[in-house]
Amino acid sequence: MTIIVTLKFIHYLAIVFSGGVLVGAGVIQSVHTSVNQIPDLTTAKILRLLGYIGLLSLIILWISGIILSINLYGGFIINSSFTIKIIAAGILLGLSSFVNFHVYNSSKNNLPPNKTIMKIATMSGRGLLVVVLIFAAIAFY
Ligand code: HEM
Repeated sequence: MTIIVTLKFIHYLAIVFSGGVLVGAGVIQSVHTSVNQIPDLTTAKILRLLGYIGLLSLIILWISGIILSINLYGGFIINSSFTIKIIAAGILLGLSSFVNFHVYNSSKNNLPPNKTIMKIATMSGRGLLVVVLIFAAIAFY
């Protein structure tokens, strides 16, 4: 009982972090776009850190989610909404890993991250998170 409550709390805390990172990084990017500037070195470092935190929170969501599914429902076959939720969560994890890898490589080569990749990734990330939340709500209503 205590372990389940703790895992749920960790799951919810990680949701707050992943959402916060997406909103925060999105606002920083859109303000830069609106004034037609690229992020300076400090802001780029902040964005990189936010990217790491986002990936870390998704990994925590997966670990806590897997343990919760096994303990509460005996596996991952719960209902179709849950299946959609974990597929979207999987794509989100892949997307975040890819973006972190791209940002890491660009900064290693002293180049700014590709604008188009970053824009598409931020938009898809937001959309996917909303999809995961909607199907989580339907799956466990
Ligand atoms: C982006 C990733 C994820 C987000 C945003 C997310 C979001 C949520 C939310 C909002 C709930 C609460 C639903 C409710 O109680 O009505 C929830 C519960 C749950 N999630 Fe996730 N989740 C994510 C990833 C995962 C993954 C990858 C798994 C499993 C492989 C998972 C397994 C579960 C389980 C089993 C519960 C239900 C616990 C219960 O019965 O109360 N989640 N999730």
